[in-house]
Amino acid sequence: MIQLFHVSKYYDRRPALSDMTLQIEKGEFVLLMGPSGAGKTTLLKLLFCAERPDEGQILVQGRNVARIKTSQVPALRRTMGFVFQDFKLLPKKSVFDNVALPLLVQGVSSFDTRRKVAEALKAVGIDHKKESRPTMLSAGEQQRVCIARAIVNGPLMLLADEPTGNMDPELAGEIMELFKTINARGTTVVIATHNRQVVEQVNRRVVTLVQGKLASDEGAGR
Ligand SMILES: Nc1ncnc2c1ncn2[C@@H]1O[C@H](COP(=O)(O)OP(=O)(O)OP(=O)(O)O)[C@@H](O)[C@H]1O
Ligand SMILES: [Mg+2]
Repeated sequence: MIQLFHVSKYYDRRPALSDMTLQIEKGEFVLLMGPSGAGKTTLLKLLFCAERPDEGQILVQGRNVARIKTSQVPALRRTMGFVFQDFKLLPKKSVFDNVALPLLVQGVSSFDTRRKVAEALKAVGIDHKKESRPTMLSAGEQQRVCIARAIVNGPLMLLADEPTGNMDPELAGEIMELFKTINARGTTVVIATHNRQVVEQVNRRVVTLVQGKLASDEGAGR
């Protein structure tokens, strides 16, 4: 599903990722760990073509995303869901409208939109709040809405960057359980996190980056 071959990415001639080779199979659940500045966000950005590598090749679902035409990027992204910290909910729109947004952009019919949004909200356990504004929800509830928005289109893979940042351990654990449930239904999940406690609880493959390099890769096949 995802293959990196000797990938490097430089910012101002300094490597954010350096000679990275990594393979993630369809249906895997992978945690990206490593200290601040290790390259976790950079790696995620390369996967959805927000950045291009300077060296090496990246295959995502068989497509070489290092060379993909800009016009093909939206189609690639439609196969992915994102849960990023800076990818905020719209405060003046209802939960329903926030989750429906990716479908609206793609011109999905209102009948299908209602059905898909209802399914996504149910999957994250928040269908009873669909009329609420995000500002009326707790942090955990808001993150569930973000996850619903990320999965509403039935993505092949789900990418998340620090999805449990600022959450207490209990809430972080609940959000991780949700990712595991989504993964169990077949979606490949890749999550960057600092949270070691969460990592231990999740008990899945852990890829650790240090200074842009692969430092360890443990627990594949769990
Ligand atoms: N747009 C950019 N311009 C210049 N340097 C950048 C840019 N984005 C990232 N970097 C640098 O690349 C390196 C890796 O950054 P990255 O954001 O991938 O780290 P990270 O592992 O996600 O860190 P954190 O845990 O703090 O989120 C850092 O040294 C960072 O300063
Ligand atoms: Mg980061």
